[in-house]
Amino acid sequence: MDYQVIIPAAGSGKRMGAGYNKLFLELAGRPIIFHTLDVFASDPACKKIILVVQSAEEEWFLQQLGKETYTTEIQFAHGGTERQHSVYNGLKSALPEGVVLVHDGARPFIEHDTIGELISVATKSGAAIVAVPVKDTIKKVKDLDVVETIERSSLWQVQTPQAFHFSVLYNAHARAEAEHFMGTDEASLVERAGYSVKIVQGDYDNIKLTTPEDLYFAEAILKKRHHKREERN
Ligand code: C5P
Repeated sequence: MDYQVIIPAAGSGKRMGAGYNKLFLELAGRPIIFHTLDVFASDPACKKIILVVQSAEEEWFLQQLGKETYTTEIQFAHGGTERQHSVYNGLKSALPEGVVLVHDGARPFIEHDTIGELISVATKSGAAIVAVPVKDTIKKVKDLDVVETIERSSLWQVQTPQAFHFSVLYNAHARAEAEHFMGTDEASLVERAGYSVKIVQGDYDNIKLTTPEDLYFAEAILKKRHHKREERN
């Protein structure tokens, strides 16, 4: 089933501490953002990529994209102060139909099988997100005092991609903007607008590269995938 994807790539990456956009950092000799773009550009179901970038970085992206052989349409949108603003700007450039995915530029390890399942669930239900069961015990804490231990079996760690019918995501964003609500993911806006959201179980490898130690995990994931490919050939 066809879809379009919004990829927010306009963050400053402060927690990575590189001093510049963390998506420019290289993994296996290639900027992180291009590992992410490769996944969607090589998926025949992906009809359009909306890449949300800071205006000051658009030139860098144009130059780098000029070296690629991608055939999928890539359109730029401009980033906002918060991720939510960036995604909403991207959404305004999307075709107002079908299923729209939102996927963090900083999650290069998403796989086609998971995307396919997500699209199929979102097409039927209107809203679906990728998540994995929480492995650790999670406690609610206030001033370093434990307030409560939360029942782990009901907890899921949410990732991207998140997929929605265009109108569901657009209505949710418009409402959040009108009511000055900021959420940490798209689904929280969609839930708040009264829609139900389905979970698709993803993979623990689909990490968001946030702090410097994540780069070690990223190298390990790349190595694992390289070995798997060699075993298959
Ligand atoms: O900072 P964090 O990694 O949580 O951001 C997730 C994704 O959202 C990143 O790919 C980042 O580039 C993007 N982002 C954005 N606009 C912002 C903040 C973050 O596009 N204002």
